[in-house]
Amino acid sequence: MVATTSTGEGWSSRSAFILAAIGAAVGLGNIWRFPTLAGESGGGAFVIFYIACVFLLGLPLVLSEIFIGRVGQTDAVGSIRRVSAQSKASPNWSIFGAIGALAAFLIVSFYSVVAGWVLYYAGVMGGDLVQAIMAGDPFRGALAGESQSQIQQRLGDMFASPGLLLAMHLVFMGLTLYIVARGVSSGIEKAATYLMPMFFVLLVGLVIYGAVEGDIGDAIAFLFTPDWSKLTPQVMNSALGQALFSLSLGVAGLITYGSYIKEGSGLGPTSALIAVADTCVALLAGLMIFPIVFAVGLDPAAGPTLVFQTLPFAFQTMPGGALFAFLFFVLILVAAVTSSISLLEVPTAWGIGERGWSRPKSALIFGTGAFVVGIACLLGYNIWSDVRPLGFWSLFAETDILDTVDGFTGKVMLPVGALLTSIFIGWKADENLLRATTGLSPLAFSLWRFLIAWLCPIAVAIILATGLFPAILGGQ
Ligand code: PFF
Repeated sequence: MVATTSTGEGWSSRSAFILAAIGAAVGLGNIWRFPTLAGESGGGAFVIFYIACVFLLGLPLVLSEIFIGRVGQTDAVGSIRRVSAQSKASPNWSIFGAIGALAAFLIVSFYSVVAGWVLYYAGVMGGDLVQAIMAGDPFRGALAGESQSQIQQRLGDMFASPGLLLAMHLVFMGLTLYIVARGVSSGIEKAATYLMPMFFVLLVGLVIYGAVEGDIGDAIAFLFTPDWSKLTPQVMNSALGQALFSLSLGVAGLITYGSYIKEGSGLGPTSALIAVADTCVALLAGLMIFPIVFAVGLDPAAGPTLVFQTLPFAFQTMPGGALFAFLFFVLILVAAVTSSISLLEVPTAWGIGERGWSRPKSALIFGTGAFVVGIACLLGYNIWSDVRPLGFWSLFAETDILDTVDGFTGKVMLPVGALLTSIFIGWKADENLLRATTGLSPLAFSLWRFLIAWLCPIAVAIILATGLFPAILGGQ
């Protein structure tokens, strides 16, 4: 076995860590997936249940992962091993660090493909904006002169073109790899310090635009008025899964980022800030998208194409649509970059800590590997559209390559990672170590211990079981 070496890298300040961790949490999950799921699941009841999941299950897990990293001071596997040693638990618990690193590697492969679609749309909207400016009408709607079917067809045309998808995937993965290879403080931290303020300015600008030009009243009613009859077991299951994904849990991402915290405790408020910020961004994304969708009388339940087909059409009829459509796709892109670097960082840190590779070598190996897996994912939209990688498994019998990687990581690996984390922290980790490192007040500590030892494992086990055996929920 190779001895675990601390990478010695670290955040330059506490706020740098917080910014980077919020950057990791806020991503496609918040701006693409959350509104999609909220729209499909009928709004209010889903949203309220989701918020409960974030704070009752997600927040205790965020704190647990950061705790492990803070104590471990190295990659996820080595960090868990160190906490185990200090708690007299078996070193085999480090397996969930390895599962997490593998999951992060797989997720970044398709995350980059989806971010590539966003990149393409940012380019299309950017070109459209330039045309509008040249025509002396910079505040016109987006894609002037295109019919709704032409706008919809663009997505199909993009999927049908492997070369286009590949080029976009290459650019996005290349950027991710470059930032990760530069290191924690001069790569990841710097990217977060520039990109996150830009992200928040864009987000607030777009929410105000949606409120002024769109139908904010309908959007608020849709997102916050619960119709409890819509809270079916499937909806609860997807809300729980989304909470894990959105907070970047179960893939050891926060263990890895937490390991670069050099000093100080106060992990409780930091964790709460991450969970609150991530949730606010998801809600704001809903408050940005649905007023626009409703203003034009479109369907909020369009599914994954909401952002790529419904919204561009909505932007067509709105004043300033060309400009704001462009800003909208730039916003998603910025969010995606700060998340993809956190995903690639998990296996990269593993290569550095467990294999003794240099950072550029490790980033290159995993970045290239994820790029190759991503190529298979994007070919699944065209020349390999018949391929069903897990077709022998009824759950994935009809699922294409990208959705299989997404589904397998989201429904299996992520909940397994979260389940093992909660059992490890709830039942195995040394109590004094937990108390001293987290710096929680006695009341907060007892509450955390209860949630992580009881509620999290039970709830996550239910997600896992119902995700794997949908028949439990009465078929899907
Ligand atoms: N939280 C990210 C999102 O919502 O898009 C996705 C993600 C990033 C998951 C980083 C896991 C991770 F380690």
